[in-house]
Amino acid sequence: GAPVEVDLSDLKPGDRKIAEWRGNPVWVIKLTDDMKKELDKVNSSELADPESKNPYTMPLPEYCQNKTRSRKEDVLVMVGICSHLGCSPSGPFAVGANVALENNAGFVCPCHGSTFDLAGRVFKNKPAPKNLDVPRYMYLSETKLVLG
Ligand code: FES
Repeated sequence: GAPVEVDLSDLKPGDRKIAEWRGNPVWVIKLTDDMKKELDKVNSSELADPESKNPYTMPLPEYCQNKTRSRKEDVLVMVGICSHLGCSPSGPFAVGANVALENNAGFVCPCHGSTFDLAGRVFKNKPAPKNLDVPRYMYLSETKLVLG
């Protein structure tokens, strides 16, 4: 597929933009300070694959092999498709009841309840076996990102 440019000039902390890339939704999320704290609180022993060693459809880019799985620690980029049966998880702004996440702390798949941290890593003991994919991307400028 062709590269897709995403303009981030109006992306404020707490905002999510959804770009279409190869027919899939790619989320670009700017973290608030509270969201960063929630990500810091995640216990990696509760994650199915904390290091993203077992990717869904594409390997984690080498420049995203860090805590936030992103090039910039306050701007997260991931494909919003659940590795169980392909639904799109909800959030991060409305995490429901019965999940081990606080407000704004992650995503929930509406189909069968898989839960993910803000970096898109799936929690254990949920049907989705793998983390959300992170596409390859780069910044053309501070406010312009290109996917693919
Ligand atoms: Fe997401 Fe089943 S499709 S939990």
